[in-house]
Amino acid sequence: MSQPMTSMAAMRSFRRDPSVVGRKLPPGTVRRIIEIARPYRRDLSFFLALVVGSSLIGVITPLLAGNIVNRIAGLEGTTGDIVRIALFIAGLAVVDAAISLATRWYSARIGEGVIYDLRSRVFAHVQQMPVAFFTRTQTGALVSRLNNDVVGAQQAFTSTLSGVVSNVIGLVLTGAVMLTLSWQITLLSLVLVPLFVLPARRIGSRLQEITRESYELNASMNATMTERFNVAGALLVKLFGRPGVEADAFSGRAARVRDIGVLSAMYGRFFFTALTLVAALATALVYGLGGWLAFTGSLSPGDVVALALLLSRLYGPLTALANVRVDVMSAMVSFDRVFEVLDLPPMIRQADDAVAVPADDRSVEFENVSFSYPSAEDVSLPSLEEVSLPEHGGPIDVLHDVSFRIEPGQLVALVGHSGAGKSTIANLVPRLYDVTGGAVRVGGIDVRSATLDSLRDAIGVVSQDAHLFHDSIRANLLYARPEADEEQLWSALEGARIAALVRSLPQGLDTVVGDRGYRMSGGEKQRLAIARVLLKAPGIVILDEATAHLDSESEAAVQEALDTALDGRTALVIAHRLSTVRSADRILVVDGGRIVESGTHAELLALGGRYADLHRTQFADGERRPADAAGALPSLL
Ligand SMILES: Nc1ncnc2c1ncn2[C@@H]1O[C@H](COP(=O)(O)OP(=O)(O)O)[C@@H](O)[C@H]1O
Ligand SMILES: [Mg+2]
Repeated sequence: MSQPMTSMAAMRSFRRDPSVVGRKLPPGTVRRIIEIARPYRRDLSFFLALVVGSSLIGVITPLLAGNIVNRIAGLEGTTGDIVRIALFIAGLAVVDAAISLATRWYSARIGEGVIYDLRSRVFAHVQQMPVAFFTRTQTGALVSRLNNDVVGAQQAFTSTLSGVVSNVIGLVLTGAVMLTLSWQITLLSLVLVPLFVLPARRIGSRLQEITRESYELNASMNATMTERFNVAGALLVKLFGRPGVEADAFSGRAARVRDIGVLSAMYGRFFFTALTLVAALATALVYGLGGWLAFTGSLSPGDVVALALLLSRLYGPLTALANVRVDVMSAMVSFDRVFEVLDLPPMIRQADDAVAVPADDRSVEFENVSFSYPSAEDVSLPSLEEVSLPEHGGPIDVLHDVSFRIEPGQLVALVGHSGAGKSTIANLVPRLYDVTGGAVRVGGIDVRSATLDSLRDAIGVVSQDAHLFHDSIRANLLYARPEADEEQLWSALEGARIAALVRSLPQGLDTVVGDRGYRMSGGEKQRLAIARVLLKAPGIVILDEATAHLDSESEAAVQEALDTALDGRTALVIAHRLSTVRSADRILVVDGGRIVESGTHAELLALGGRYADLHRTQFADGERRPADAAGALPSLL
């Protein structure tokens, strides 16, 4: 390895946060890292062999140079010998170049391979996490873990491992050869090392503070820019007319970033200069002391030259190894942080003896179901949450003793105040969460013993705000059913009453929708989501306030699409509109996580209880709205 590279690596490790060394690693981390390396053991052994080869060449070349000098000084041997040795040195240089390429090839293969393995494992694992995990986790923290720590872990195999191996071997070989040439000079050169390493440590810790501060300043500068440059922020600045103050505050931070940039450049240069200076001083020492020894005859001129050349290979490894503990620990901590994510148990997993939900039974049944949302420790990592709130006295029961049955083809409506537990009930059917007591059965099978695939195929869900991926309409639809043909796609779009719109788009089915694509209105999005469910053709449909966020015009269109979606299917509908509720086969009134009333619209009105209240308050608006009647044109009443 060449000199600038080793000193760069040395500088990086002086800059590293020494606090990682204090971190406790769980037992078995090393074993697991070895486990990760196992597929690469062939590549790794080639890699290490090459590193050793390169170190050997690094020691042999100065010795050969010394040999030439001795021949010149003593005028011994023939000119042919000298040319032969010089050619051999040249040959070694070519071999070393080839080794350097091959080393990079192996280290890149191993490093990228490890990144690939860890990334795909973490991604696959995170996808298995329950919804509860995502409700608690900061996406940014998770993404950064996927990126930064995985890359940090990769460095363990490439730069850290190869650095340690090549430095140790280089140091041992160089030191041994130098000692045999002249122990006095070697010891004296070593005395100079603390002269460099001790100040370097101080510079390193200062550099690390500076780097951290500049990261923070940059982040806050970016945050200011994103906030002020979006429409809402820009509007606020304009309306309150304080652009001057904003600009000053921004310049203040930018100025600090500038100053830190200068400081950091100087510290960095100081590091290199000090290293170069110590090496130069030592070289002077070798020539001075060595020359003197050569005069007295205890050293040959060639040895002096060889010693001077070897010296340059002594300091790089020494400084790098001075901080090896920090390097190794940093790599291990990265691994540990990746393992932490991989070790999160997926709470919802398929039973080993799971059976498919029968295709011919579309009933849904809740039997004495009680449920509480899992607590943070169960589903997430504190380090991935922005603030880990202390749980107040453990999980709170959200559902109590909920029992009902929906016969195949029936429509059951859930009504109740916000926070009553309606969405929670709906979420238990596709097993987004597991019940804490009782059982949920789909097609007569407890969802915990059904295969996840068959359960997913049996149930279609439309919620308040359907999500579309930033992708073409076609891709969004095919997500529900990858093998669907063109005809099926269009018939789903027809059923969802959105075919005309899609046809009118210049790119039709290939129009890209989502954040950065064609902006669909809320109603159009919902209808596309319904088309997705129609394409999937599940036996059971769950609607969770699917029209709640829409204006009455879109609502009428979506309602029409929903009627198609519900036709002939078992349906669990959380409704905020009276017309849907009224046509339900049965209405369940949810309050405080319990089903407090159950019956048809007429029965419940006659009962004069909770439903009658709700009917008066919550649905009073809907009653008067003409758009309520499915398909009716909104009038201007
Ligand atoms: N992911 C969650 N984690 C913890 N508690 C939740 C979560 N979602 C809902 N809750 C709580 O469960 C209760 C029922 O909520 P929900 O089923 O969404 O009510 P509804 O749909 O009837 O408005 C509420 O008290 C709510 O705070
Ligand atoms: Mg809800």
